[in-house]
Amino acid sequence: MRRYWQKKPLLIRQAIPDIEAPLGRDELFELAADDAVESRLVTHFRQRWQMEHGPFAADKLPSPGKRAWTLLVQGVDLHDDRARALLDRFRFVPDARLDDLMISYATDGGGVGPHFDSYDVFLLQVHGKRRWRIGRQRDLSLRADLPLKVLQHFEPEEEWVLEPGDMLYLPPHIAHDGIAEGECMTCSIGFRAPSEAELSAQFLYYLAERGEASKPRDALYRDPKQEAVSLPAQLPGALIERVGSILASVTWGSRDIAAFLGAYLSEPKPSVFFEPPAKPLNEAQFIRRASQHGVRLDRRTNLLYDTRNLYINGEEERWSEVGNAAKKWLSELADRRFLDAKRFVTLSDEWSVTALLHEWYRAGWIQVGPPAGKPEHASKGSREGVAKAG
Ligand code: SIN
Ligand code: CO
Repeated sequence: MRRYWQKKPLLIRQAIPDIEAPLGRDELFELAADDAVESRLVTHFRQRWQMEHGPFAADKLPSPGKRAWTLLVQGVDLHDDRARALLDRFRFVPDARLDDLMISYATDGGGVGPHFDSYDVFLLQVHGKRRWRIGRQRDLSLRADLPLKVLQHFEPEEEWVLEPGDMLYLPPHIAHDGIAEGECMTCSIGFRAPSEAELSAQFLYYLAERGEASKPRDALYRDPKQEAVSLPAQLPGALIERVGSILASVTWGSRDIAAFLGAYLSEPKPSVFFEPPAKPLNEAQFIRRASQHGVRLDRRTNLLYDTRNLYINGEEERWSEVGNAAKKWLSELADRRFLDAKRFVTLSDEWSVTALLHEWYRAGWIQVGPPAGKPEHASKGSREGVAKAG
């Protein structure tokens, strides 16, 4: 992080030795057929770039025997626990910055063309080989005639062939082009970096919604010095000045900023729908089961915290309301995305916490059971986990 993050590219040979693709080719194709999943097909047939958005029925994808096409599936971590487990290995970067895991599948010669991205990315080769060329060029002008971002002039300076387990880190705005050598799969670990404009606008919405910016209801605008006018349509200068001073008294502090960020950054993506357990355990049953198996965050759950609050999927809970003993274990649940049975037992006589955790369980935000998606738990997804727990 000190030497490379947001600064310069880094090639790491065998960053994750013995890596296996989190999903097989057919599983990826199946995801691409799902209309809740964001996917793109990029083809470079007869030297012509084309792009289409998914979903793609299985028979709508070119044959794996055909050269020069690639399928990109975004947000795979939201749909598969193994993908989520791989994304979790990148939590040396704060969750507030981590975005998603994209998986691309390409046939020989496939790629998305030379381009640059506005966000940091780790490109992890998980199957087959890909030749990457990168350059630090200043000229980032794009071809205007294409449906995807392709650089007008690509000036590669370095070149490597990545094999499974090898990884390339690229900070924003580094030109790059990855071309499959034979069939291959690459995982892109992506980051989120809201624009300053977006942050400001969202913060102001947040203040307005929370009524933080509101004034006492009886404090109405007054203008005892207003004179009779001959230009009635003209906004009075004194009105502008007076409203300016009202607005200048709208203030906020770091508490508001933290609470805004917690709610905003933990908000689920619009495509996310949680699946509450079909036959939920009642609170006593839930406590008993969780005391035996622990609890884990659903792969889609965002849980963040600061010194004052806990933020789960866009909602805020005050630490002062859950108690100090709980703070330790709930922040551990947030950091590890899992709380083992022993820890849960120490929590279980704090009824405010168990009630809260039971509520999260009923919303489908947490599940009873050990972390899912690690290679030793080959189970596919949390639905099965919930069924078992229920
Ligand atoms: C790919 O995986 O084919 C493209 C990833 C990227 O260049 O950002
Ligand atoms: Co890229």
